[in-house]
Formats: sequence, structure tokens, C-alpha cells
Amino acid sequence: GERTFVMVKPDGVQRGLIGEILSRFEERGLKVVGGKFLQIDEELASEHYAEHEDKPFYDDLVSFITSGPVFAFVLQGADATRQVRSMVGETDPLEADPGTIRGDYGLDLGRNVVHASDHEDEGANEREIALFFDEEDLVDYERIDETWLYEEDH
Ligand code: GTP
Ligand code: MG
Repeated sequence: GERTFVMVKPDGVQRGLIGEILSRFEERGLKVVGGKFLQIDEELASEHYAEHEDKPFYDDLVSFITSGPVFAFVLQGADATRQVRSMVGETDPLEADPGTIRGDYGLDLGRNVVHASDHEDEGANEREIALFFDEEDLVDYERIDETWLYEEDH
């Protein structure tokens, strides 16, 4: 299955939502293959948000993401990136459907609780995984329910 990168942002950590957010993905059937609690420094923030370098909100983005610890993790499963994006919801919580993470926990565009790799940006998932994790930090294993989650081998 495909791997994808997800992160509980500083607001989500401070609000005690790590477990809740992780649970949603676990219960959906996505497999946790890596996880790391860290505080992002300026250098990592500028690499992670390189695509937004020229946006007017860039400085706010970097100061927010470095403002406190985050919980970064890697999920694996069929179409993991798209599955995760649909569970995360629209970027602006105002437009995110109830039932999505941002639609249930967020109110503000600049405090939208989670980051997830963009499925429309080819290779963003593996690029972001490599930015935060060494390959040896990720574990390849089978979850006991895998044969019940998928019709065919994937
Ligand atoms: P991420 O998963 O966090 O990357 O969100 P996204 O992919 O849904 O949105 P995008 O990559 O376009 O933007 C990255 C982050 O910048 C968003 O999660 C928002 O927190 C923030 N952001 C996006 N657009 C705006 C904006 O117009 N104004 C402000 N203040 N923040 C924005
Ligand atoms: Mg994005």
C-alpha cells in the first residue's frame, strides 16, 4: 500500500487531540508505520513549506508550525494519501464538512489542526516522509485485520 505523511500541528497537540486524530486513522484501517514527536525548527519548516514561500501568509505559517511540538506520523494503506485527505477535510475549517477532522475540530484557516500530504502534488507524500523520517525509523509489518480490510492483496 501507499504511504502518506500526516502531522498533528501545534494547535492540535496543545488541545490534546493527538490520540483522537490518530484513532480515526487507525479505526479506518490505515496502518501506522512510523511516528515522531518533535518541535520543528526554522530550517525544517522552510523545507516543509517551500511551496508556500512566496505566499503572503508564509511568515505566519512558519512561526506557527515552529511555535510548539508536533506529532508527525506515517500511514500506509491503499490510496492512503487520498483517504487521509478526505478524512482531514478542506483547508479552511469553515468549508470542511462535519465528520472531517478540520470540520470537527477547527474554526480558523491558520489553526486547522492537521497537515496531510497533498494528493494532487505527485510525490509529495514520499518527499514529506523523507523530510521527517529516516527509512530505518519506518516499520514494515502486517496488521492482523488486513485480510478483512481489502478485497484483494494490495
Ligand atoms: P496542509 O495539509 O497544512 O498543507 O493544508 P492544505 O494542503 O489543505 O493547504 P495548503 O497546503 O494550501 O496550505 C498550507 C497551510 O497554510 C494550510 O493548512 C493553512 O493553515 C495555511 N493557509 C493556506 N491558505 C492560507 C491563507 O490564505 N491564509 C492563511 N493565513 N493561511 C493559509
Ligand atoms: Mg498542503
